[in-house]
Amino acid sequence: MRMYDIIHKKREGHELSHEETAWLVKAVTDGTVPDYQISALLMAIFFRGMTPAETVDLTWEMARSGDMADLSPIPGVKVDKHSTGGVGDKTTLIVGPIAAACGVKTAKMSGRGLGHTGGTVDKLESIPGLHMDIPRERFYEIVKQTGIALVGQSGSLCPADKKLYALRDVTNTVDSLPLIAASIMSKKLAAGADAILLDVKLGSGAFMKTLPEAVKLAELMVDTGNRAGRRTAALITDMDMPLGRCIGNALEVREAVEILRGSGDARLTELSLELAAGMIVLAELAPDRESALSKAQEAIDSGRAFNVFCGMVSAQGGDASCLEDTSKLPLSPCEHIVRAQESGYISALDAETCGLAAMELGAGRESKDDQIDYGAGIVLLANKGSKVEAGEPIARLYAREEAQCERAEKRFLTALSIEKERPVSQPLIIERIGI
Ligand code: URA
Repeated sequence: MRMYDIIHKKREGHELSHEETAWLVKAVTDGTVPDYQISALLMAIFFRGMTPAETVDLTWEMARSGDMADLSPIPGVKVDKHSTGGVGDKTTLIVGPIAAACGVKTAKMSGRGLGHTGGTVDKLESIPGLHMDIPRERFYEIVKQTGIALVGQSGSLCPADKKLYALRDVTNTVDSLPLIAASIMSKKLAAGADAILLDVKLGSGAFMKTLPEAVKLAELMVDTGNRAGRRTAALITDMDMPLGRCIGNALEVREAVEILRGSGDARLTELSLELAAGMIVLAELAPDRESALSKAQEAIDSGRAFNVFCGMVSAQGGDASCLEDTSKLPLSPCEHIVRAQESGYISALDAETCGLAAMELGAGRESKDDQIDYGAGIVLLANKGSKVEAGEPIARLYAREEAQCERAEKRFLTALSIEKERPVSQPLIIERIGI
C-alpha cells in the first residue's frame, strides 16, 4: 500500500477500507510515513469527513496501536466516564465514588490539565501523598476493594492518537468530528471498560460551542462506542458558566468533598447525580434513570459515597484526613477579593475566561512542563443569574503573589456582564443520548 494512494482516495471523498485504515495507523505508529503526508491526509479527512464504519475502524486501530487494558480480573461491570472538558469540572471525583457506592466498578485513567480546563490527575495530586502512577496489579486490587481507582494515563496508551493529535494541533484540523470522536473513543476502548458514559460540554468554556455541533459529536461517539461493542450513552450539559463554585485543584477537591457530604452547589450536585445515575443504568444495576437517581442520592445521604472516596484516596497513598478536615489541603497564601462594579444580575460569567484567570493565578499550565500551584484558584461567591450589589464580594482569588491576583482580577472582570434584567436560565442537562 502507498500513502499517496490513500491520500488520493480520501481527497476524492471515497471510503477507506478496513485494510487501508489498519495499514495507515500502523505506519503512523511506526513512523514509516512522513508528517507531511499524514498532515495532507488529515486535511482531506477534515474536508471529506469519514463514514461511521471508517470512524470505528480508525478508533479500533488507534486503540490497538498501544497497550489495551484487560479489566476482566475485576468482577462486575466496569463503567468509564468521560467529560469533553470544562471549567470547574470536578465531577469525576464525585461521580466515581457515588457510582462505586452503588456497585459500579470504575478503573479510570485520567489526564492532566492543559490550557483553561483542569485535569483530574492534577486535582487528585493536590491531596498530600496521593499517587496516580500505580502499577497495574495494585490498580486492579484497589478497584476490587473500593470499587474505584483513578490513575494517570499510561505513556503507551494510543500512541497513534498522540502522533495524530500533535499534527492536528499544528495543521488546524483538530475540530473534525470523526477525528475528535476517534481520538476520544480510542482511549476509552484501550482503557478497557464495558460501558462508557460521555459528558459532552456545550458553551463558552467547552470545545463545542453550538448545540447542533455538540449533538453531532455526542451521537457519533455513542454510535462509535456501540459499534465497537461497548454500551455507550451521552449527556450534553451546559458549560456556559463555570461548574460549581471552585476553580483550581485543591479548591475543587474541597468542593467535591462538600458535595459528597450532601451540601454545596445545587447545579454541581444535580449534574453529579445525573452522571452517577447514567453509570448505574449502563452497569445494569438499576432498571431506569429514576431508580438510579434515588440510589445515587442514597449513596450520598448514607455517607457511603464519601467513605468510598476516602478509601480510594488512602489506598492510593493519600492522606484521607485532609478530606475529613479540608482546611489541611493546600491553599495559596494571597487572598484577594473581587467586588461587583455595579448592581444588577450577573447575565454572563464566561467559563473559558474564568479558566484563563485561574491559570494566571497558577492553577493551570500553558505548556505541558509548567508547574502547578495546587492551592491556587478561584472561589465564586456569585455565578450567572445571581443578583449582586455594587461593591459586594463576588469571588475570592488565591495565588502565591498579589501581582498574580491583580492580573487575574482584570481578566476575571472581562468574563463578567451585569445587567438590570434577570437572565433566562439555561437548563443544565440539555440533551440525553442513549439513556
Ligand atoms: N480530546 C481528545 O482526547 N481528542 C480530541 O480530538 C479532542 C479532545
